[in-house]
Amino acid sequence: MNEEISGKVATSVVRDVLIIEIRNPPINAGSLAVRQGILDALAHLNATPQLLGAVIIGGGRTFIAGSDLREFGKPLEDPQLPAVILAIEASSRPVVAALHGAALGGGFELALGCDARVADRQAVVGLPEVTLGMIPGAGGTQRLPRRAGLAKSITLICTGQRISAVEAEALRLVDQVVDGNLLESAVECVHRLAGRKVRIRDEQVRVESAQEIADAERQALHKGKRRPSVVAAIESIHLAATHPIDEALAHERAVFQRFRMENDAFALRHLFFAERESSKLPADVSATARPVRTVAVVGAGTMGTGIAICALDAKLKVLLFERDATALQAGTQRVTGHYQGRVEAGKMDAAAAASAEGRLTPTTDWASLVDADVVIEAVFEDMDIKCEVFRQIDRYARPGAVLATNTSYLDVDAIASATTRPGDVLGLHFFSPANVMKLLEVVRGARTGPEALATGMALGLKLRKVPVLAGNAFGFIGNRIYNAYRRQCEFMLEDGTWPEDVDHALVSMGFAMGPFAVADLSGLDIAWRMRKSQAATRDPRERYVDILDQLCEQGRLGRKSGAGYYTYAEGRQAKTTDATVREIIVRASTQRGITRQPLGAETIQRRALLAMVNEAAFLLAEGAAARPGDIDVVMVQGYGFPRWEGGPAFWARRQDRTRLDIDLDHLVAGNGLGAIRADRAMLDQLLA
Ligand code: NAI
Repeated sequence: MNEEISGKVATSVVRDVLIIEIRNPPINAGSLAVRQGILDALAHLNATPQLLGAVIIGGGRTFIAGSDLREFGKPLEDPQLPAVILAIEASSRPVVAALHGAALGGGFELALGCDARVADRQAVVGLPEVTLGMIPGAGGTQRLPRRAGLAKSITLICTGQRISAVEAEALRLVDQVVDGNLLESAVECVHRLAGRKVRIRDEQVRVESAQEIADAERQALHKGKRRPSVVAAIESIHLAATHPIDEALAHERAVFQRFRMENDAFALRHLFFAERESSKLPADVSATARPVRTVAVVGAGTMGTGIAICALDAKLKVLLFERDATALQAGTQRVTGHYQGRVEAGKMDAAAAASAEGRLTPTTDWASLVDADVVIEAVFEDMDIKCEVFRQIDRYARPGAVLATNTSYLDVDAIASATTRPGDVLGLHFFSPANVMKLLEVVRGARTGPEALATGMALGLKLRKVPVLAGNAFGFIGNRIYNAYRRQCEFMLEDGTWPEDVDHALVSMGFAMGPFAVADLSGLDIAWRMRKSQAATRDPRERYVDILDQLCEQGRLGRKSGAGYYTYAEGRQAKTTDATVREIIVRASTQRGITRQPLGAETIQRRALLAMVNEAAFLLAEGAAARPGDIDVVMVQGYGFPRWEGGPAFWARRQDRTRLDIDLDHLVAGNGLGAIRADRAMLDQLLA
């Protein structure tokens, strides 16, 4: 077998079939060199009469798992993907795609342009372009519906969902699923085709019920928050049933070309890379993670049980520790109840649930901690209690175990000092619900050793989280920025606006919830308690808004007490506003000598974002965050910041610099005497 390699593509011949192998590790991204290599190979196929056809296959662990996203922010160079697909369709002999690993985006579009698709049983396929602010640009919106129908295509394309080879076969997107030798099966498929071409472009879209299509559309628009890419994808998919394919393909390509250069797409690509970058250790840390098979979770409350579920889902063994049998039973039931619920909802099979539960060992015996490779503490947020718990952990955990705290605000160094091994201690700050939220802040204390840090990061990835390194600063990255944002929103109440105006302005910008609805949901008393504990040390010159304290004094503790910033009528979902809150707010304005002036939605949004930007610049300058992108990942993954705005640092980078400086001056001037503006150098660092 002769092998020829040109750039990123190698060719060889097996049983008179040309094998075109993509070699662009690690994910065989569809780059310019790959496209050119495939075109050259196809030219060779057509010029060599004895060849029966070709197989396109990925070298290494995957087919083309996506296009090279870095190409999408600049002018694309020829040959572009549609030209390669046209060449496959125009080739005189059949071309079969052999799929393993992942065939995503442009990779799957290329496969749909082939005469048949043979897939390894473990392979996944999908078109994630919409989640990156674009639409498929190489026929995805046209070839997919010709096989899967309009309704299913709308769902798949608009959610960017990946499906298994088996599901794809059921939708006729894959022609054959194989368990054995993929290449051999694909070569066999070329032989079976016996020179016949099967072009999806020549097929008709089958007739479906209008209701089914409308339902798929409604759900897609809802889930996709009516972003322009979702709307445009639906429009383009419809053309498959109404327009000649070449006309529809030209339309699709034009939309793709436009969208890939818009703000949404830049923001989403930025996050795509930032989320991969954030799990990398800083340059000064080179260490290997310690192996982790067993995790002990100390404290089986809300967070502890969520963390336990997430470790069980990652196939780890879990020791769940509580202080007494009653609390342990309640915690264990929360975990088993979760799995029962999943089985009843048809989301998990009973055997998998039983296996997860089988890896769980509930215990009240400190000595059993000796089996744990990592111990994660999630007891009450109280320094004395945490230190006592860490003294016990230190006594019983085996040497080399990594000891983590899930604290939200407490000083990780102080907690580490309660042990004889501070080098093994770090923060692992999960978000609630811990088995759902992707964000994990990995907090590096002053004495955290490199191996403990590497182990924390690796565990985060194993738990399928997006881990972000944070310094041991008050509130780490997320809570600290969120506090600055929430304070600014409180200032706006005093300045002349109402909670519902602030919430509405931020939700309409894309935040999952407004800050006052969030405060009501999590309970105002938590913040109230913290404020009281800080009262003695608070700078008296600081602008302090006491609206929340007053609400609490009236027993308005948020949703759980039936009222907070809003009123929640029993049995009713909707929240309403009431006069009491307005009176408290107006009184606060009067006491500060402010003449209330209503604020427009744009001003509200801008002030909220500027407050985040100012704090983010400090965090970065202090080294509490390693990279601007890390801050963006935290705010998007953990705090409902709209993904398509890219996060506060990305947002700031897209603003006019002069105006940003002026607005920040203005903003901070209104924040009271104690407030400090990030200086130009700090801002430069954030915007770099
Ligand atoms: P929780 O009150 O639901 O659970 C705490 C659990 O710890 C209880 O089950 C309690 O019995 C147990 N516990 C207390 N002392 C113990 C001891 N000495 N030994 C063993 N177990 C003990 O609290 P939650 O909400 O789960 O919070 C736990 C930690 O996670 C806190 O540090 C909190 O700040 C942090 N956190 C909470 C988040 C949330 O949204 N609830 C989010 C992120 C972090």
